[in-house]
Amino acid sequence: MGVYADRVFPWLVSNLEGPKLRALVGRVVAGAHGDVVEVGFGMGKTLSYYGAAVRSLRVVEPSAAMNARTAPMLAAAPFATSVLEARGEALPFADGTFDTAVCTLTLCSVDDPAAVLAELRRVLKPGGTLHFIEHVLSDEPGVARRQRLLDPLQRRLGCGCRLTRDSAAHIRAAGFELAARERKVGTGLPVFRLFPIVLGVGRKPG
Ligand SMILES: C[S@@+](CC[C@H](N)C(=O)[O-])C[C@H]1O[C@@H](n2cnc3c(N)ncnc32)[C@H](O)[C@@H]1O
Repeated sequence: MGVYADRVFPWLVSNLEGPKLRALVGRVVAGAHGDVVEVGFGMGKTLSYYGAAVRSLRVVEPSAAMNARTAPMLAAAPFATSVLEARGEALPFADGTFDTAVCTLTLCSVDDPAAVLAELRRVLKPGGTLHFIEHVLSDEPGVARRQRLLDPLQRRLGCGCRLTRDSAAHIRAAGFELAARERKVGTGLPVFRLFPIVLGVGRKPG
């Protein structure tokens, strides 16, 4: 994939999130239980937040460079794990396999969020839950204008990451019921006004 995608971007993913955002990610992930699928595992920063209620964790991540680095920590986890070099748009799992799906700061980066969410809904059991935290398009017109302006640069620096994605709308459109109403929060520093966060739990009906 090249030096930037294989070395620089993984470093950015590991190091550029502040403690406030990490705490929110932790809160989202801590609700996972049973058999879990996580798409866009990145450098594995969610792993330490999975609790005793997790039976197994299957992670799906297209970056071979990141998967090579997270394999040892997954092998040491206190539950069954596997890592698949694949994309969320085509999940190699049977319908109704999982109790929980987890997506943290990933819907911004996938090529086709509707396809990823349709796949997550398919592989969840009826009543299964999608736990998500994503940065999204701002409600503030001035900020949204700056996001649109900077989007092409962000896509290059963030290996496909968009500032302008309305991920909560995609989650609703995919047919998830928002079990815990999604919430938008800021994450502190002025630059992060470009990264308003939406987080919550979506439930597959049934
Ligand atoms: C900003 S990183 C977030 C990583 C991690 N979830 C976290 O919270 O630190 C976005 C991740 O999504 C992955 N990704 C990009 N396109 C994807 C796709 N189509 N399906 C699944 N993951 C994808 C990237 O390789 C990257 O690891």
